[in-house]
Amino acid sequence: MSEKLINALNDQYNFEMLSGYYYLAMASYFDSENMRGMSHFMVEQAKEEYEHAMKFYGFINDMDGRVTMQAIPEPKNDYGSFLEVFETALEHEKKVTGRIYDLLKLAEEEKNYPTVQFLQWFVAEQVEEENTMKDILFKLERVQNQFHGLMMVDRELGAR
Ligand code: FEO
Repeated sequence: MSEKLINALNDQYNFEMLSGYYYLAMASYFDSENMRGMSHFMVEQAKEEYEHAMKFYGFINDMDGRVTMQAIPEPKNDYGSFLEVFETALEHEKKVTGRIYDLLKLAEEEKNYPTVQFLQWFVAEQVEEENTMKDILFKLERVQNQFHGLMMVDRELGAR
């Protein structure tokens, strides 16, 4: 495996960790707004991101690479609305999807088939990740800040 590919996988390991940190910042924002269900959803989302990161961690080691930790930039901590949080989350997931596709392209160029196969799981996962955020956005757009509707969405997300 080329150093370029190992480095790209390591960058993605770090990006998944960063994703978890971003979602924890969203969870904390929801806690400050007493939206416990939405906060719970984001904590679970953060845990998922750390699981994604550990998949990269394991794979890089399996391929005899070395995982290195990079600095994590400060995430966005404040939001103007609940809708804005999920819009940001969807944009973030689209960015992750783009990164996975770029990695896949690189692995294919290098004919590194174990990496191509490893990334397949993430291709499917990203469809799910984007759809989850789209579904929530769809509901929040229709609820339009009505207290009752927001409480319903909050309860639903709390059941994740
Ligand atoms: Fe690990 Fe939500 O992408």
